[in-house]
Amino acid sequence: MSPSSPNPGTNQSWGGRFSEPTDAFVERFTASVDFDQRLALHDIQGSIAHATMLARVGVLTDEERDAIIAGLGEVRGEIESGAFEWSVALEDVHMNIEARLTDKIGITGKKLHTGRSRNDQVATDIRLFLRDEIDVVGAELARLREGLITLADREADTIMPGFTHLQTAQPVTFGHHLLAWQEMLARDHERLLDCRRRVNVMPLGAAALAGTTYPIDRHVTAELLGFERPAENSLDAVSDRDFAIEFTAFASILLMHLSRMSEELVLWTSAQFDFIDLPDRFCTGSSIMPQKKNPDVPELVRGKTGRVYGHLIGLLTLMKSQPLAYNKDNQEDKEPLFDSLDTVKGCLRAFADMVPAIEPNKASMAEAARRGFSTATDLADYLVRKGVAFRDAHEIVGQSVAFGLKKHKDLSEMSLEELRQFSDTIEADVFEVLTLEGSVAARNHIGGTAPDQVRAAAQRARDALATLTGQA
Ligand code: ARG
Repeated sequence: MSPSSPNPGTNQSWGGRFSEPTDAFVERFTASVDFDQRLALHDIQGSIAHATMLARVGVLTDEERDAIIAGLGEVRGEIESGAFEWSVALEDVHMNIEARLTDKIGITGKKLHTGRSRNDQVATDIRLFLRDEIDVVGAELARLREGLITLADREADTIMPGFTHLQTAQPVTFGHHLLAWQEMLARDHERLLDCRRRVNVMPLGAAALAGTTYPIDRHVTAELLGFERPAENSLDAVSDRDFAIEFTAFASILLMHLSRMSEELVLWTSAQFDFIDLPDRFCTGSSIMPQKKNPDVPELVRGKTGRVYGHLIGLLTLMKSQPLAYNKDNQEDKEPLFDSLDTVKGCLRAFADMVPAIEPNKASMAEAARRGFSTATDLADYLVRKGVAFRDAHEIVGQSVAFGLKKHKDLSEMSLEELRQFSDTIEADVFEVLTLEGSVAARNHIGGTAPDQVRAAAQRARDALATLTGQA
């Protein structure tokens, strides 16, 4: 109990002006320590930098600084070993750590909070924490992208049907399809790193809202903590949570992409498609139907997308209409952010582990491409090249397809005579364009599905990834 507390049971950090203890339910209701203890190590990191700066400008003596830093080191040890006893009565991570520091080093511990407030402290902690987490997410994202690029390169010649409206449209290469996924993730990666730039700004020094009367040097603290710069405006610094919203927006778009990939994986593993196999270790069985092998991992990733969207809307709504500057509402920023992070990390890890293990069933992919008259456009283009107007070519091919449907024959399986019923412009060289290989090879321009283009695109993707992750 602090000597300044007039009343037993009031909070030792702010109990001075209170005349009765906090209601027991209110104490629990307003406490955040159960979840914000996750910020503990970053809280200590921020406090060490703050104390170092205070000594630099003469607000603390060097001895006081050293005692604080040593004490915080011990507290960190207790937290890491699990020996630290968190107290709901001490409300949050900040006051728990400060109280323990004061237990250990006495009155000097109480000087740590000079020139700062929990308002700038918590904003700083979340940013330090999120910056580290973004780097972990970035590394997982890079691992997934690399896996996709490698698989795409390997499967540059593998042919599958491409779809529009989920109806067979034109043949594409499997590598091309995988690189389409990779493009989605490349944009996500850029969004993540762009978000990091705005996370990496330091609120510390804003104090409660207006700044502090001590001769602090915010550039020193910012440099010690590796922040790009101090936040420009103290009111904005303590109330801004845009960076958390931005991260959750990144996470929502990423999960939307992963849900699309998941959906395709689920379809492709079905007996109806039979395009790929997922190794048993990524699937589960059914307790009642012995024949089943279910693609649980992609299904779960698809399902988890919803909670991240929820967190984005939650955070946007949390900040809506909030007056400047700090409000207790902001304590609600942490759980959605933490859960978004955990969800994103889990989904990325599952995908990064699973993607290299995808085994295409080439025969059934090719068979599906053939079944769906996927080279019909190629026949129309062939006729146009021989001088037929596109509209007429479309009609001729339409009649050929109708004939094929009746006879259960793909265009490439018809004889020349059969094809010539619909146009005598058709000659023996038509079969070059009617094969799946001919069809994909003909789309030989940047962004096209030709195997050579896929290999070149994979190389460019590899280079772009290396540049983004700074390994170039
Ligand atoms: N636990 C609080 C939070 O997460 C810390 C800041 C409290 N500031 C205050 N003025 N009550 O936002």
